[in-house]
This record gives sequence, structure tokens and C-alpha cells, in this order.
Amino acid sequence: MNNIVVKIEKSGNRYNAWDSDGNKFTSEIGTGTRKSAYEKGMALEKRVNKSGNPYWWKVPMSEFEASSAPVFDVSSVDIPTDHAEVLNFIHSSYGLKPKGLVMKELKWKYLVRSAVRGKNILMTGPAGCGKTMAAKSLVNALDRPDFYFNLGATQDPRSTLIGNTHFDKKKGTYFSESLFVKAISTPNAVILLDELSRAHPDAWNILMTVLDNGQRYLRLDEADGSETVKVAEGVTFVATANIGNEYTSTRVMDKALMDRFIIVEMDVLTDDEEHGLLTYMFPHVDGELLKAVAEISHLTRTESKSDAGKISNGISTRTSVELAGLLFDGFGLDEAAEVTVYPQYSDDGGVDSERTFIKQLVQKYISDGSSDDLFNEDEIESNNVGA
Ligand SMILES: Nc1ncnc2c1ncn2[C@@H]1O[C@H](COP(=O)(O)OP(=O)(O)OP(=O)(O)O)[C@@H](O)[C@H]1O
Ligand SMILES: [Mg+2]
Repeated sequence: MNNIVVKIEKSGNRYNAWDSDGNKFTSEIGTGTRKSAYEKGMALEKRVNKSGNPYWWKVPMSEFEASSAPVFDVSSVDIPTDHAEVLNFIHSSYGLKPKGLVMKELKWKYLVRSAVRGKNILMTGPAGCGKTMAAKSLVNALDRPDFYFNLGATQDPRSTLIGNTHFDKKKGTYFSESLFVKAISTPNAVILLDELSRAHPDAWNILMTVLDNGQRYLRLDEADGSETVKVAEGVTFVATANIGNEYTSTRVMDKALMDRFIIVEMDVLTDDEEHGLLTYMFPHVDGELLKAVAEISHLTRTESKSDAGKISNGISTRTSVELAGLLFDGFGLDEAAEVTVYPQYSDDGGVDSERTFIKQLVQKYISDGSSDDLFNEDEIESNNVGA
């Protein structure tokens, strides 16, 4: 009989021990032993000493490899079937996230894991925070047949999700199935339901049985007993909902529908993350200007969240990216803000309006060529406290 051989994987500051079948042995092995094996690139084998007590002995990694499935090759991403492969896929999947998508490693892995496990995924978050981008990136990373439906844009859910009845002189009345029917009939398909929160309530009703784990079928007709189409093996649904992180609520979407999903909340970017993103996207734009954009956006977000906040919404990452794009094309920060940001804020209330507030904020950042101007005096003073 073969002894158990485990490999140590570092996750955050933990050193986890897995055998080739994906069983976890972390709790059986002392931290020092795991850490040292990890650092030496060695595997651990479970042995028994003379008194019959188990201990873990360092062995070459080839011992582990001999007992395990081939190491997962990212270039030929396929649907993993056995557990070790699944683990390997999930935990090495951060490399599949496009560089231009800012998303924390844990969130991305959770997304990949949920897709691999065939969960219905609902990406939530405020407008323009990367939900659609993340969902599309996930679909690309999986290398499975994929289908895209923008439910926010469909006027007629029945024809989009079910199909149309036509009349033809020769054929008489006939039914043509929707692309969605084809999608759910495709084994292992990843089906993106974008802007589900903005869909017509009829769409939600139609999707109810499709998304229900106990049902997983689409009814072609409202009538009971009418023909149904089964959701094929391995189909994964990824939906997006424009719902603020503060209330993952039923206000916008039906509770019963929400319950059919696991929620992956997109985080709003911090100013550093946003600055990093803008610098990555527009390396030729002056760094100070991009920093100003990131800071302005960030300040609007904090302001909108505070109780006494003077504005109701923060600038989205989408808008920040647009702003930076205008800077790249030679517009000034004031000009770029005037066309992209100001129109999003109401000028009701004159000097007390949201628009006045945002204009003042941007003005603070309009530089005369030196970055010293970027902060008003209050902030310089408070920055100097304790310096
Ligand atoms: N986390 C992010 N990482 C990288 N780019 C982002 C991110 N969030 C937003 N963006 C930028 O903003 C644009 C809009 O993002 P996206 O369409 O994914 O937003 P959304 O959350 O789906 O918005 P909506 O709620 O309006 O549908 C992207 O094309 C990208 O340029
Ligand atoms: Mg979207």
C-alpha cells in the first residue's frame, strides 16, 4: 500500500497540505514541518515510527508527482473533473485574470470556483465598477462555450428567452427557438445574463425554474404541462446586478430570484487601486493628473457615503477611465470633468447644488503646472500635523 504523500501550498500566510486527491492534511502536520517542506520545495510522506505513531518525512517532490495527476497546464484550460485538478485550477487561476481588471485575488478565485462548481453567480456592485468586465473575463478564462444576453436591453423577454411563433404560407404556424434555448441546451455552457436587475419582471419569472437547482428547465409556454427544455449538464449562469454594495437587497430584484444565486460582490476601487489602473491603461498621461482623477473619484465616493454628504453618488471607475481617456487625448482636467462628470450631478439648488460641490472639488485639483496646487491649504495643514 502506498503511503500518503502531500504537497504544501502557500495561501496567504498559511501553508496547506494536500494529497493528490485533494484531501487536506494541514491540521495533522506541524506548522514548522509544513513551512520547511514548502521552502525546500519538498513533499511530505506520512510514515509510522516504531512505537506506531505517525510522523511526516520530507521526500522529493517527484514522490508527490508520481502519485498525482499531471500538473495543470494553463494553456489548455479545460473543465477539470477530478478534485486535485479542480483545486489546482482554482488556486492557480489568478493568472487567468486579465491585468486590466482590478479585482482582489480572493474574489477572483471565488468567482472561478463558483463557476467550476456550477453555481449560479450574481455579480453585484454599483454602476461602472467592473461587473460586466469581470463576468466577461471569467467567461474567457474558462474556455467553455459561452453565450451573452443583455437582459437590460431586451424589450421582449419571451422572444429573447423562449422564441417566436411565426407564420409561413407553406409551413403554416411554426415556432423558432431563441438563442437562449440553444444556450441552455449546450453542455458546459457559460451563460452571461448581463443587467439582470434591469430586466423585465417577465424575464425574472421565466428564469425562475431555469435557475432553480431542483428544476433546471425552461417552460416554452405558460400553460402547465407544456413542453419544457432541460438545462444541460454543467451549464453555469453568471448574472450581473446593478445593486449598491451597501444593500444587497430585494428592493431591486425579487427575493426568490436572488436566492437562486450566490453573490459575488465587486469591490469599489480604492484610490490607490484606481490610480494603478489608470496608470496601467494610460502610461503616457502625466502621473500627477491621473492621481488627481483617482483622488477626485475617491473623494466623491467617500462624500456620497457619509451621512452629511453633499452628493448622492460617487464617480464610478467607468467615469474615471473616461476622464483619463480624455486627458490622454489632450483635454484638460477641467474640460474632461465638464463633459463627463458635471452632467452626472444635478444643479438644483444653485450654490448648494451637487454640481457646485463637484466643481469646487475639481477646481482644487486644477494645477497651474506645479503639483503643489493639488491640495487646498486646509489639507496641507492637516497633512503636516505630526510631520
Ligand atoms: N474593477 C475594474 N477594473 C478595471 N476596469 C474597471 C473596473 N471597474 C470599472 N472599470 C472600467 O469601467 C468600465 C465599465 O465597467 P463595467 O462595464 O464592467 O461596469 P459594470 O459594473 O458592469 O457597470 P453597470 O452597472 O453600469 O453595468 C470598464 O470598461 C473599465 O474600463
Ligand atoms: Mg454592466
